Amino acid sequence: MTDAAHAALETLRALPRPSLAELFAAGDRLGAFATSLDLPDGKILFDWSKTHLDAAHVEGFLALAEARGFAERRRALFAGEVVNVTEGRAAEHTAQRGVGSEEAVELAATFHERMHMLVEAIHLGALGEVRHLIHIGIGGSALGPALAIDALTRDGAMVDVHVVSNIDGVALEAAFAACDPATTMIAVASKTFTTIETMTNAHSALAWLSENGVTDPYGRVVALTAAPDKAVEWGVDETRILPFSESVGGRYSLWSSIGFPVAIAVGWDEFAAMLEGAAAIDRHFRDTDGIANLPLRAAFADQLYSALRGCQTRAVFAYDERLALLPDYLQQLEMESNGKRVTAEGAPVDGPTSPITWGGVGTDAQHAVFQLLHQGTVIVPVDFIAAIQPGDTLDPAHHRILLSNCFAQGAALMAGQGNDDPARAYPGDRPSATILCDELGAATLGALIAFHEHRTFANAVLLGINPFDQFGVELGKAIAKQIEQGNARFDPSTEALLAAAGIS
Ligand code: F6P
Repeated sequence: MTDAAHAALETLRALPRPSLAELFAAGDRLGAFATSLDLPDGKILFDWSKTHLDAAHVEGFLALAEARGFAERRRALFAGEVVNVTEGRAAEHTAQRGVGSEEAVELAATFHERMHMLVEAIHLGALGEVRHLIHIGIGGSALGPALAIDALTRDGAMVDVHVVSNIDGVALEAAFAACDPATTMIAVASKTFTTIETMTNAHSALAWLSENGVTDPYGRVVALTAAPDKAVEWGVDETRILPFSESVGGRYSLWSSIGFPVAIAVGWDEFAAMLEGAAAIDRHFRDTDGIANLPLRAAFADQLYSALRGCQTRAVFAYDERLALLPDYLQQLEMESNGKRVTAEGAPVDGPTSPITWGGVGTDAQHAVFQLLHQGTVIVPVDFIAAIQPGDTLDPAHHRILLSNCFAQGAALMAGQGNDDPARAYPGDRPSATILCDELGAATLGALIAFHEHRTFANAVLLGINPFDQFGVELGKAIAKQIEQGNARFDPSTEALLAAAGIS
């Protein structure tokens, strides 16, 4: 760590700790920490006023950001320079949204045009009747599409899409049971086109098609990949391969051809609107300096709780059924990106990196896990996410009660309540942030996701780590392969488990 970064952190650690009530009494918290951004389908309010960020923290974190070279690392990200230093790659997800180096933006537009044509052809019936799409992928090749499709198709979809990720055949069989093989297409989504879960599921899907009378099962396959040669080798016709660039990371790939099932489900215009919403956040993040930069501001609060106050988790509760899959998505984005133990230069980090991200939907979660948030011994910074416009058409009481509960939880966490009976007392002074969207359309969804991508990047810069590799997932994969090959010996516990399952 540089001396300047060390000094900034020391200053931050020594700051006084006023309570939230004291902070609200001392100044205009809303003016300082609640900001709206305009988007094509309405505003989003980012209210960080109920966090313990104050002017002294802002000053300290801005010094830390400067010491860590935030402005330079952000410039390099958007310029398409190598920011994934351990793998020698750029990270060009923003170029998929039209914001990045000219070359990367042009290439992304070319790939999008190809995808657009295939999506239109399928919608127009040029490939025969397509009523179902089974999208096979895992991790970043599944979580983004699953989230976007779930969020944007509550009123119905142009094609019925099933996202299947797990190698457990139960998942694929459930999709088979819901689809008619005669009108089903298969999307095989894998950046590397080698992932064992995806390739095994893809083989089984082809077998299911041919066992059910489809004479040319490969003719029903679309490949979404950064390794088009491997897809050709596997048997996919070149006209149905939708490539994307190697420089788009798996967990950042929703915006590339990995988003194909989203465009199939909601139509090209909605997919393009999602890209545009994300691009609005890209431009905000790229062009806004200081504490007005909302992903950076959120990262300051994240660091306040994890690095300065030892919070090991952070929770996200969407008070909106359409965002039920957002916590899963954010878990991969944040934990795979920032769950690291060495700096970008390979030195051990000297503090915590990514907290554990978890969450759920409100109000369900209130009746399950909020007890700990209000009275447990650990402090969990919480994000609440909600939309002013309802996603349903029932009695407006539903949405009113939903939002009232969302806002009540943030107020209760902060205010607490005394009681002579300790079991009934609420300590209060517990932090939360609220993201309030006007309406959860495609552009807003894109913006929400892009906000979290940049927040994750900003956290990585403040920590001095590389958010774009994920070597931590490799060892387990390698050992699973050795087990499959049956030529390696393991510890007694593992050997006994293998023997019990009849695998060794
Ligand atoms: O194992 C982790 C991972 O590499 C993720 O980063 C990625 O999103 C996922 O596997 C799927 O990889 P692929 O798209 O290459 O099949």
